[in-house]
Amino acid sequence: MNRFLFVLGSNWQLSLAELDNVLKNSQFKGRIIDYSANVAIVEFESLHNEIHYVNNLMELQYILGGIQKIGEIYDFIDIQTINQAFPWKVDNYKKVESIRQKIIESLSSNLLRIFRRVKNENIFFAVSIYPNLFDEDYYSQVLIKHFLPFLNKEISHLIKEKGGKKVSYYKYPDKYIKSGHLNPIFPHHLITYGLFNEDRAEIIFGFTEEGVYIARTFTADDPNFKKKIDEERPFKEFKSSISPKLAIIMLNFLNLFEKREKCSILDPFVGNGTFLLFAIVEDFRVFGTDIDEEKVQNTMRNVNWLYNELEEKVPLFLEDHFKTIAIDKVSTVFNESFFDGICTEPELGPFFTEKPYYSEVNDLFEKILKPLYEATFRECYKLLKSKKRLCIIAPIISTVDGGDLQLNIELIAKNNGFILIPLMDIERIVNKSNIRLQFRKEQVRALIDARKDQIIKRKLYLFEKLD
Ligand SMILES: C[S@@+](CC[C@H](N)C(=O)[O-])C[C@H]1O[C@@H](n2cnc3c(N)ncnc32)[C@H](O)[C@@H]1O
Repeated sequence: MNRFLFVLGSNWQLSLAELDNVLKNSQFKGRIIDYSANVAIVEFESLHNEIHYVNNLMELQYILGGIQKIGEIYDFIDIQTINQAFPWKVDNYKKVESIRQKIIESLSSNLLRIFRRVKNENIFFAVSIYPNLFDEDYYSQVLIKHFLPFLNKEISHLIKEKGGKKVSYYKYPDKYIKSGHLNPIFPHHLITYGLFNEDRAEIIFGFTEEGVYIARTFTADDPNFKKKIDEERPFKEFKSSISPKLAIIMLNFLNLFEKREKCSILDPFVGNGTFLLFAIVEDFRVFGTDIDEEKVQNTMRNVNWLYNELEEKVPLFLEDHFKTIAIDKVSTVFNESFFDGICTEPELGPFFTEKPYYSEVNDLFEKILKPLYEATFRECYKLLKSKKRLCIIAPIISTVDGGDLQLNIELIAKNNGFILIPLMDIERIVNKSNIRLQFRKEQVRALIDARKDQIIKRKLYLFEKLD
């Protein structure tokens, strides 16, 4: 079928936007032909024609911050068939059984593609169901309670029928099945259970509004590696650091996919260096500045620690890449038009434990944050090469008495020679009938990365320097 299934991260809009951007601009050209809040279905222009395409999928998985797993699709069953085979209430069992037979036939004809060899083998499999939306009742009441046991039983049966010596499958804890809150197995379990081995597999049933895609997982995110960098680095402030996922996603929006080792990236609010650490993992040359000398020292120690961990040589004169300097003077310490990309999270405001008042936030914006962001855009304009990108976070602050407040970042950027690049090209994305799955033009100009109850929310913007 030459289609691949990508399991999206928890911020699925951002994951989808990142994936679409990579498919549009990297060497892995392709298109998202269908999606839900959990999976994206991708058709590549040529990746699948290469003999070692699995290696390419692994590389793609490594580059992407927002993707949990990638699988190869073997079949698709339309949603009417699924709904008839697994209705809310079974009235006519005979009819249901005959439709379920179609699903069994599909599983039977694809079993040898999933496992290659079954005869005389000890087979282990794990079924993962990704619904259209996790909070849909059809998932908790029908898919988990009826479709999942059906799949476990029928796949086991088919393996036996095809000569499998022994067959076992991953059993989800009963309490999650009963409560209807079931998470498919996590990426790190794939390694624990050896599910990339030939006689073992994770079989994904990924739903969209159109139907269910049946895939075998080929590669998955290694969260332990990212967690180690994030948590074991010598210096870290949990309160102010962005997540590894978000750092990698933002780096990808810079659209620097080739010869990364030659691309110079700056974070002018470097803090403890989260962006730069993941930029090193992604092969970039890194530079950082901050007003706080201690932070700059901490970042340098973190960066040296990381090169050591990766068993890579520390670049010569690395200390010259880090300076203690306020944002409004950054262009005095680097050459003009030196950088290929800038990724940064400026100060977002104080750490509020309770919602502040409108007037307090208004003051904060007018007196501190607006001048800070103006200086950031002015300086970044001088430092970036022409047509290169700045990916930046700005705050949305919830107030007690005036709703959510945000700075007019787009205007500040425009006044300083930048053009906004929407995070998602909606021309490239298919239409969905569920309003929760739709993308509107205004919505994709910038995307939010936050929990609903957060007082300060991060909003992600992407800008390009005009000539
Ligand atoms: C939100 S933190 C950045 C955190 C960083 N992304 C990390 O992962 O550690 C903002 C940083 O901006 C720095 N900062 C605040 N005002 C500044 C200014 N005027 N010029 C340069 N840096 C400033 C602070 O010292 C702080 O390290």
